[in-house]
Amino acid sequence: MKKKIVALGGDGVGPEIMEVTWEIMEKAGFALDIIKPLHGEAAWKAGKEAFPEEVKNLCQQSDAILFGAQGGISREILYFLRWQQDNFVNIRPIKYYPGAKSSLQDPQGIDFVILRENSEGLYPAREGDLNFLAQALPQFKDRMGKSLADYGHGKFAIRVISERGVERLAKFACAFVLERKKQGYPGKLTVVTKSNVLSQSDGLFQKGIEAECQKNVGLRHEHFYVDDAARRLIRFPRDFDVLVTSNMFGDILADEAAELVGGLGLAPSACLGGKKPYFEPVHGSAPDIAGKGIVNPTAMILSAKMMLDHLGMKREGEALEKAVAIVYRDGKTLTPDQGGKASTREFARAVLKEIQ
Ligand code: IPM
Ligand code: MG
Repeated sequence: MKKKIVALGGDGVGPEIMEVTWEIMEKAGFALDIIKPLHGEAAWKAGKEAFPEEVKNLCQQSDAILFGAQGGISREILYFLRWQQDNFVNIRPIKYYPGAKSSLQDPQGIDFVILRENSEGLYPAREGDLNFLAQALPQFKDRMGKSLADYGHGKFAIRVISERGVERLAKFACAFVLERKKQGYPGKLTVVTKSNVLSQSDGLFQKGIEAECQKNVGLRHEHFYVDDAARRLIRFPRDFDVLVTSNMFGDILADEAAELVGGLGLAPSACLGGKKPYFEPVHGSAPDIAGKGIVNPTAMILSAKMMLDHLGMKREGEALEKAVAIVYRDGKTLTPDQGGKASTREFARAVLKEIQ
């Protein structure tokens, strides 16, 4: 039975990277039934809904969803895939493929994964007027004895760290590290928080993850504050195996870490743990280069590789990754972000040639 995939390019460069990615997989003869419904920016330009009910239903009936990028119009799609499906973990591999244009002099051997909590923290944004919060919590005082009313007019944002959220992430992270260890990786989990300041919320996060680590023999763990972790990523990138952190820290650190291995054009991700898995690049819709045919589709192609792995199509996933690695090593058909002159399609054609 062919796996059923829904491909949603979304907005901006999303459709361009999506199209070449499904073309590679179709032409390579992978056993997938890829559905490409009208949605997002293209639907909106045609006077239609960006995310109609039929497309939602298609997603619900699929085995997995590939998503390109949201640039506002497809925001609803992201909300549906991430929060309504409750995909609580975002896996963001940071792996150097020789030939990619890293911001480091020596990026050889960088190969780690960021596990980003994907369902709570500061997302999907709980904000409002400070006056409202001050009235709701008249007794609430900070460490210095200041009440909310003392700030006058303004806005607030609520960051939620729940016990359930930490527990499920901790279990996932430990299993993930041990699985990687079987493939020869060190078996280390780096927990990243700001528990020195956020002693209650990030205290819970840190303790919850560490407690789970202690239950797992053969797993080492360490903890860094997020500011220190940001520095270490640049200074000691080869010291990381798997890093686990809360939602917005993960958002920020993943973009930073992508620069170690060639930039956002190469950073894929998988969102798992919920009702329907979905796979998307770390980057956004890049409206400045949309429609020019020059966007680097690597992040989307490698996201498809993660999907294939997840669906148990390891051979196909490996073939895709190997082909990408060869094109980078060869260096003749790279996109402008990598210092090359190739178009999105030329790059994709080169990848396909290495599979066939
Ligand atoms: C990401 C993006 C999103 C996020 C935006 C588009 C809402 O930056 O997937 O990293 O902040 O999570
Ligand atoms: Mg981001």
